[in-house]
Amino acid sequence: MKTFDAVRAVDGLDLTVEPAQVVALLGPNGAGKTTTVEMCEGFVRPDSGTVRVLGLDPVADAGAVRARIGVMLQGGGAYPGSRAGEMLDLVAAYSADPLDPDWLLRSLGLEDSRRTPYRRLSGGQQQRLSLACALVGRPELVFLDEPTAGLDAQARLLVWELIDALRRDGVSVLLTTHLMDEAEELADRLVIIDHGSIVASGTPAEVTSRGAEGQLRLTAPAGLDTEPLARTLPDGFRVAESGPGTYLVEGPIDPKVVASVASWCADLDALISDIRVDQRSLEDVFLELTGRELRG
Ligand SMILES: Nc1ncnc2c1ncn2[C@@H]1O[C@H](COP(=O)(O)OP(=O)(O)O)[C@@H](O)[C@H]1O
Ligand SMILES: [Mg+2]
Repeated sequence: MKTFDAVRAVDGLDLTVEPAQVVALLGPNGAGKTTTVEMCEGFVRPDSGTVRVLGLDPVADAGAVRARIGVMLQGGGAYPGSRAGEMLDLVAAYSADPLDPDWLLRSLGLEDSRRTPYRRLSGGQQQRLSLACALVGRPELVFLDEPTAGLDAQARLLVWELIDALRRDGVSVLLTTHLMDEAEELADRLVIIDHGSIVASGTPAEVTSRGAEGQLRLTAPAGLDTEPLARTLPDGFRVAESGPGTYLVEGPIDPKVVASVASWCADLDALISDIRVDQRSLEDVFLELTGRELRG
């Protein structure tokens, strides 16, 4: 637990990152994401509870932990006049087995910025450079706090590809984001937090299907008998003609349900002119859980 004055920033949050796993900590502004990450990095000391990183205490064993983790600092500690390539080379020199700095710069679309002074890099370029600095030492575990915040779509894609490459390389990643598509795309496991506590966790598919209610909307000739379809579908589905020629099937929609609907129409010699399935998005789940939108 961590309290700032009267605010419980993190409260009873239990979190494990397995090797070679990408875990996304997802939550709205003020949920406690940064505080959680900073406790793992050893920058913030918890009031109570235990933090273990690679089996070590990030405060008591700070030196040993820092040597094995990668931390992306936002706008931190650069000599404004030093060139992007020099900065990365300098960080690489501290590592026994660094990644190839040129490969990293290329992967992050910074190959043309090698000789650019830090202060002349755009905000997005500075951010990608700090990601490169976090990774060049070949860490076992990487903490990325909102790594793509403020990046344009193309740069974001480069960062996603790099994180995917890290996972294939056996690196564990704990990242925070308030972007749903980012969490769904990258994470093996999602941990949704609000007010410092976990409100849901699991694979993206598990989280979005939790108590899932989907909807299938169908356009076909009016007045079809829905009884045979209702009998075919498992208990808990609702079938109704909601307007003339518009049919609504509510329940956990999966491919078999869609096939049942199609064969029901085929049996009645009725042609489907339109069919649409709406599944709940992660955003819907989040709204249900917290009543709040997942914004920065
Ligand atoms: N150093 C601090 N001093 C006082 N309050 C803080 C401090 N750091 C964070 N908080 C408060 O703790 C809560 C969680 O913040 P934070 O971990 O930054 O959330 P997030 O990263 O999810 O936006 C917020 O209510 C924030 O205002
Ligand atoms: Mg934050």
